[in-house]
Amino acid sequence: MIIIINKISNSRCINSQQYSLENLLNLCKLTDTIKNIALTSEGLKYLKPILSDKRAILYFKQASTRTFLSFQNACHILGISCSEIRDTSTSSEVKGESELDAIKTFSQYVDLIIMRHPLSDFIYEISDNLPDNMRIINAGSGTNEHPTQALLDFYTIWKYGLENKKVAFVGDLLRGRTVRSLALLLNKVNGIKLYFVAPKVFQIKSDILEQLDVDYEITDDFEKVLSEMDVIYMVRLQDEYGGTNEVINTNKYSINSSNINKMKDDAIILHPLPRRNEISVEIDKDKRAKYWQQCENGMWVRVALIMDMFGISDVDLLFNKYIEYIT
Ligand code: CP
Repeated sequence: MIIIINKISNSRCINSQQYSLENLLNLCKLTDTIKNIALTSEGLKYLKPILSDKRAILYFKQASTRTFLSFQNACHILGISCSEIRDTSTSSEVKGESELDAIKTFSQYVDLIIMRHPLSDFIYEISDNLPDNMRIINAGSGTNEHPTQALLDFYTIWKYGLENKKVAFVGDLLRGRTVRSLALLLNKVNGIKLYFVAPKVFQIKSDILEQLDVDYEITDDFEKVLSEMDVIYMVRLQDEYGGTNEVINTNKYSINSSNINKMKDDAIILHPLPRRNEISVEIDKDKRAKYWQQCENGMWVRVALIMDMFGISDVDLLFNKYIEYIT
């Protein structure tokens, strides 16, 4: 499936294609500024009223820990009141109300809808059916996209330097929506090279490859590429979407104490989490393991994204007003 929307308004965060490199770099700088401001209790007090006149709903029809909680806490940081529906057995969907009607109802009450849904295209239907001024964020759409995860992954890689990097995606790339979204963001960076590392049945679909302008390689040989990579992005088997004939051999596609030393000293290991056996727990102590930092970055990137969607994207203005506030 290729869905390219060249111009999605800033009231929507739907897919990776909508972001330019300029948008991405501004979001990274905005995130850095917010993180710096939030280091002190005065800074958190400055951030709290910024969107305190806004309300949001988290509508999650698939399981989530990080995305749900980081968005909820991002809203708290900005003073946004949050409501949630995670279990539709307690909403009027159980009486036969359609999902579209349920979401139209939310739009009567809130300014921002953050939605995770098992169907890849449903986010487009919602975006098409709600007024332009309703802010809508795709927090994961089936096996297709997870743009906000890609934004936080992009930010984490940006912190270590983006230019001329070799990035390997390893695991279930067939259904790994974070890989699909991040590959499309990294495609905007000159000199980057992507490696898609998986057995054939789990390889990335051609719709993503067809959109890539950067160099890439397809391989099933993890050990061969391990020593060359600057960034290794592991993903788990996405078996909530059903089985396949072949199960990923977790030893062959994992990082553990027996192969970590083959990696470059300044490489970084990322994972969107949750993990299973792709990364052994003992690797958490290695200086190259950055997935817990990546997880924390998720909340701050989501603060920046929400601010940006409500028109607060001028990094210098935000910081100068903060200096005025504390002096
Ligand atoms: N990375 C991610 O989307 O995690 P959750 O499924 O826990 O939200």
